[in-house]
Order: sequence, then C-alpha cells, then structure tokens
Amino acid sequence: PPYLNDLARAAGKLWFGSATDQPGTGEDTNILYQEILNDTDIFGQITPANDMKFFATEPEQNVFNFTGGQVAVDIAQDHGKYLRCHNLVWVSQLADWVTNGNWTAETLTAVMKNHIQTLIIHWGDACYSWDVVNEALASNGSFSSSIWYDVIGPEYFFLAYQFAQEAVEATGKDIKLFYNDYGIEDTGNKTQALYALIQEMQSRGIQIDGVGLESHFEVGATPSLETQIAAKQGYVALGLEVAMTELDIRFIEANATNSTGFAMQAQNYYDSVSSCVQVDGCIGVTVWDFDDQYSWIPGTFPGQGAADLYNADFTRKPAYYAVGEAL
Ligand code: XIL
Repeated sequence: PPYLNDLARAAGKLWFGSATDQPGTGEDTNILYQEILNDTDIFGQITPANDMKFFATEPEQNVFNFTGGQVAVDIAQDHGKYLRCHNLVWVSQLADWVTNGNWTAETLTAVMKNHIQTLIIHWGDACYSWDVVNEALASNGSFSSSIWYDVIGPEYFFLAYQFAQEAVEATGKDIKLFYNDYGIEDTGNKTQALYALIQEMQSRGIQIDGVGLESHFEVGATPSLETQIAAKQGYVALGLEVAMTELDIRFIEANATNSTGFAMQAQNYYDSVSSCVQVDGCIGVTVWDFDDQYSWIPGTFPGQGAADLYNADFTRKPAYYAVGEAL
C-alpha cells in the first residue's frame, strides 16, 4: 500500500497523522487497529480525540488527571510520532463543575489560567502544539456563546493565548500555540473574520503560531482544491502555520455508499490533501481517526458515516489510495 506518512515526509510535510481515542474505547484492545495506528510509515502524528479535554483532565477543580492523555503521549514517544495536544478552552466537553459553577469574570479567568498553564507545563514539549482555543467563532465570524464568552467577554480569547504564552515561556521549550476550528477551510465570512482576529492578536503582541483547519467535509460538498488552497494561503500570508487537523469526508446518505459514491469521496480526499501539499506553510494532514468502526460521525450525525480512509473491517477504501496519490 502507499505509506501515507512516508509520502507526506517526502513531500516536505511534517506528518500524515490520525486522531485516536484511547483508552477504553475498543481501539485500545483491537489488534488490527493498533497495528495500523502504531505504524509510523502510515501515521507520523497522533491527536488524542478526547483524553486531553477539560472533562478528562480536570474532573474536579484543581484536581488533575493525566492518565488518559499520557496514553497518547506514550504512543507518540514509543513510535516516534508527533503529538498535537487538543484542547484547552472550548464550549464543549467541559467538566460539570465548570458548567454548573457560579462564576464571576475574575474567578472564571483564574480557572482558565490554571487549566491552561497546568496542562502546558505538565506535558511540555511532548506536545508539538496545543489547540489553545477551539471552535470559538460562529459561522458569521462573531464569537459564539460559551461559558467563557458569556462570563468573561471577548477578552477571554486573548487572555487564553496570553496565559498559554506565559506557560510556554516557563517551560523554555518550543511549543506551538494553535487556534482550531471548522468552517475556516474556505474563503467565506468565518475565514475573513479569523484573518482579522489573527491580525488583532498580532497587533497586540499576543502569540499565535498556527491555525488548525478541522476539515470535516461531506461527500460531494467538499470545498474545491482552489478554494482550499486560497484559504490556506491567507493564513500563511499572516505568518502562521496551517495544519489540517480533523479531516474526514462523510456520506450524508447511507445509501450513497456505492462505487460512484466512493469514487467521489476519493476525489474529495484527493483535493483536500492536495491543497496542503501545494501550500508550503501547510505542515501536515491529520484524519479524525482512520477507520469507520471508530469514527465519531455516526454518533454525532445520526444516519451519516463511512467518512474514513478504512472500512470498518480495516480494508482500505479508494479514498486511501487517492490520498497516497495526492501526497
Ligand atoms: C469529538 C470526538 O471525536 C467525540 O468522540 C466526542 O464525543 C465529541 O468530540 N471538533 C473537535 C473535536 O475539535 O474535539 C471533536 O471530537 C470533533 C469536532
């Protein structure tokens, strides 16, 4: 088979990678899954899909749990893979004590600071990068409602990166600070708003090193190669790295999973990965897990699926080979 990470490296990228959801999800005991995940010729980078999120790492206030996240750190170190650490400040998958707390701007800012700095300092440069703020923007480009925004106001966003920057400086290591979102892979309103937000950060001297383009696409409705290139070039022109961080391309109708559908999905994967290959500042592509058996899509979008590079039985789809050709 084409070895996707080897090809990505030969194309000048840092990695071709995958999210993984360990432990206790089935992935951790599935031998076939493990063999493919561990093969660094195929995946040179991993992202823990859930285990570094707020609910998992700070289940009670100032009581930290690093166990699940450490599994990802160990897999990366044992097999010579990069690790993207994900994520610190998000509207979702918070701990109940945060969601149900009775906060002032001052007390919630202290919670945010402690969480950000504890995790960054704990894992240090085991993390190539941290997604500091995740999915903060609505489709029109304004800040979305979240406990962070509602209690602290828009300043929460800038404070998060300042706290992260302080922590990185305390480690003395090179750990990149990313913003990660969906709907920023084309040249529409949300992307334009993010360009402006990045410029505001830069004019205020607040560190941001990169943007993660999630790239959760739909078969037949994936942004074109040209559009995806143009969006990426915009971030690179601002001096940032770009990564495709959560690529998957789902069928929205289960009955479209025939050979015509799989060929279209393969073309959509080809265009998406090509857009990263063709933009110098695009450092790598990460799929949001690699096989349909463990994909998050059916659980979140009922009736949709078949979004990944491998079928549920770990046979490779046309999309897998199309990615190999794109790299
Ligand atoms: C998803 C996980 O894959 C699921 O297991 C979980 O139930 C919900 O979150 N955007 C992100 C990721 O940034 O963290 C999300 O991961 C998918 C959407």
